[in-house]
Amino acid sequence: MIHVQNLTFSYSKFPFIENMNFEVGKGEIFGFLGPSGAGKSTLQKILIGLLTNYTGSVQVNGCETKRKNRNFYEHIGIDFEFPSFYEKFTAAENLNFFASLYQMPCIPTKDLLAMVGLSADADKKVSGFSKGMKSRLNFVKSLLHRPDILFLDEPTSGLDPTNSKQMKEIIADCRDKGTTIILTTHNMYDATELCDRVAFIVDGSIKALDTPHNLMLAKKENILEYSYLENGVEMQKQTPLKTVSEDTLLQNLIAENALLTIHSKEPSLEDVFREITGRELK
Ligand SMILES: Nc1ncnc2c1ncn2[C@@H]1O[C@H](COP(=O)(O)OP(=O)(O)OP(=O)(O)O)[C@@H](O)[C@H]1O
Ligand SMILES: [Mg+2]
Repeated sequence: MIHVQNLTFSYSKFPFIENMNFEVGKGEIFGFLGPSGAGKSTLQKILIGLLTNYTGSVQVNGCETKRKNRNFYEHIGIDFEFPSFYEKFTAAENLNFFASLYQMPCIPTKDLLAMVGLSADADKKVSGFSKGMKSRLNFVKSLLHRPDILFLDEPTSGLDPTNSKQMKEIIADCRDKGTTIILTTHNMYDATELCDRVAFIVDGSIKALDTPHNLMLAKKENILEYSYLENGVEMQKQTPLKTVSEDTLLQNLIAENALLTIHSKEPSLEDVFREITGRELK
């Protein structure tokens, strides 16, 4: 659904994105994970045809984005980083208006509002909405015309855990129905939970690209942590999981039932991100 080849883009005379390449297949959730200023929104804007002065090739749904026609937006849905609405209109009026811009029949407004728990707020003006309510409304605005490709820029930002979980369930459900999803985030939990593949992005370039599982396995060792008492003092020790059978102290503690605690510690995507890029996510 998406083919990016030798993409180079600059805001000034210096290239910000240089020779970037990636592909995204149908029904995949593809994530860009990176800190603030990495270029995530810039990349989204190129993919959705807002920034057109790039070189290389950016094909989305079979269309070179700098040469898109009106039909392009009939098939893609966009949840921008910053929600945009007519503040004096109600939630329902806003969705009805945006639905009227599409040629194809849209999902009924009341169903969209129900999806994100905004049914009771349908007739309230958006100017009175909280940040999280606007985020949820912006999200369903991107879904209303049942797009084939969804672009979500930090979709869970500003949401409480319940609403964030609900939104992630809807995103996974869209993927299961065949929608291709490009998602940007600096939240490693969202990336780990949702994405089929993740690209680490820093300073406008991709530093690694794989499934979250492979990224986590490839770099850091899984560790076993345990604790025990020595002369009445609690001692802690770590041992690599793959050589656990060589740890005689641990074997003795197990034989004597003398372990206080034991658990395995897998690296998080954030640990791997730090190791590969030398940068923090936040
Ligand atoms: N219109 C613009 N003109 C000049 N520079 C810009 C413009 N928009 C963004 N930039 C710069 O490009 C870089 C990447 O910005 P971008 O918004 O893509 O980052 P991001 O990864 O989305 O960050 P965040 O997580 O904060 O949303 C930043 O250094 C930013 O200052
Ligand atoms: Mg951004």
